[in-house]
Amino acid sequence: MTQPAPFYLDCDTGIDDALALAYLLASPRADLVGIGTVSGNVSAAGGARNTLDLLSLAGHPDVPVAIGAHDPQAGTFHGGAPHVHGENGIGGVDLPASDREPIEASAAELLVQLAHQYAGELQVVAIGPLTNIAQALRLEPKLPQLVAGITIMGGAALAPGNITPVAEANIANDPEAAADVFTADWTVTMVPLDVTMTNVLEEHHRQELLAADHPVPRALGEMLGYYFGFYVDIFGRACSAMHDPLAAAIAVEGVDLALAPTVRVQVDTTDGPGRGQTVCDLRGQYAGFPAQRGARCRVVLAIGEDFAPHLLGTLQAAWLAATRT
Ligand code: BDR
Ligand code: CA
Repeated sequence: MTQPAPFYLDCDTGIDDALALAYLLASPRADLVGIGTVSGNVSAAGGARNTLDLLSLAGHPDVPVAIGAHDPQAGTFHGGAPHVHGENGIGGVDLPASDREPIEASAAELLVQLAHQYAGELQVVAIGPLTNIAQALRLEPKLPQLVAGITIMGGAALAPGNITPVAEANIANDPEAAADVFTADWTVTMVPLDVTMTNVLEEHHRQELLAADHPVPRALGEMLGYYFGFYVDIFGRACSAMHDPLAAAIAVEGVDLALAPTVRVQVDTTDGPGRGQTVCDLRGQYAGFPAQRGARCRVVLAIGEDFAPHLLGTLQAAWLAATRT
């Protein structure tokens, strides 16, 4: 077995963020060395609270959690998405309160510090608005050379948006920051709605979580009850997209990619109806995506397997082990 790689997670915890966090804690390929929060589904401070509570419940209380940006680069935080994630961000589920506090450093400072500590090794997974990552790039312009990779959940290539007809929430919540991240000198792996809306978790998966002999899967199952309610209008049945856990699994190379061309991507930062859109140059699709000059974004359009069994299998393996010890 190869050594697990060090991971920094940037999130807005959030129900699907909670799933991603549980997945990274469970995956033998990841060593979670730090977490930063950003306003999105809830405020950055609220997301940190949820994260600390989840870490304690999962038996990983020592992972440092830093509160990041409250407001996006332009404008102010819109107040979150209670209709999707509940007032507290985790579907109203009342987790036992952790007695730990976030660290003093900001999320951007933590990321820069970890990038130096694990130079050439650190994997960054960003599953909220990209405000902290853009801030870290300003703090340490060599960040792209220091980290081993960056994977983001965000954007839409050919799929419609989920917050406007063309924009996905994480990008739309801070398009200026997203533009900074996409134009930095690194290859971003983008996990867009094209692939996160086509890999769903069904009610029988949720029932499996609820039946588990461990408080983490049970809490996730309860949270998903709320999340499924939001998706009824979208899919016509109780189920949910798997945005953030899929990005986490792709970052740890836990799932095979069926189609992930590296292309040019531009974020719309205008004030028109396209604001927050990720304009992906997919014109090469008819020729099998030949190399494209200036391309620096690997856009995941399809994965090669059914994701839900992989997600549940990874979580299950960790919990069974935990229950036995
Ligand atoms: C993304 O937005 C947030 O609501 C989710 O947690 C996910 O990261 C999906 O558009
Ligand atoms: Ca998120």
